[in-house]
Amino acid sequence: MATNRTFTMVKPDAVESNYIGGILKMINDAGFKVVALKFTRLTEAQAGAFYEVHKERPFYGELVGYMSSGPIVAAILEKDNAVEDFRKLIGATNPANADEGTIRKIYAKSIAANAVHGSDSDDNAAIEGNFFFSNLERF
Ligand code: CMP
Repeated sequence: MATNRTFTMVKPDAVESNYIGGILKMINDAGFKVVALKFTRLTEAQAGAFYEVHKERPFYGELVGYMSSGPIVAAILEKDNAVEDFRKLIGATNPANADEGTIRKIYAKSIAANAVHGSDSDDNAAIEGNFFFSNLERF
């Protein structure tokens, strides 16, 4: 059964380009409520652990280096059918394939610097939210 929470990050490219406000506005306008929020920077070890599921992929080293290259915004979002609806809002992983009006179509630079992360399942949304936030930091 779908849960009503997902996890997102505004990635280093989008933070560096001053897109935090624009991206959070799109998220709010699409009906998502922010229930946890943090501005932080991952170490290489933390980025490696967060993306451990991809560690056999050829792009893993690039991904870890990139995600620890600058600050990110992490958030837990609430809405009915959150995981699926958020993936629709952000668009395809590769912005070249993202639909018009999606966050990645508007803000992403490349498949690596693709502006935002969105959980791909309810289980991963819970795991990823727990990676960044304690129970005292979510509402
Ligand atoms: P994300 O949704 O954060 O989950 C895994 C990330 O790996 C993905 O977004 C992309 O940014 C990145 N990724 C996927 N495929 C590639 C690729 N071929 N080259 C570089 N990065 C990739």
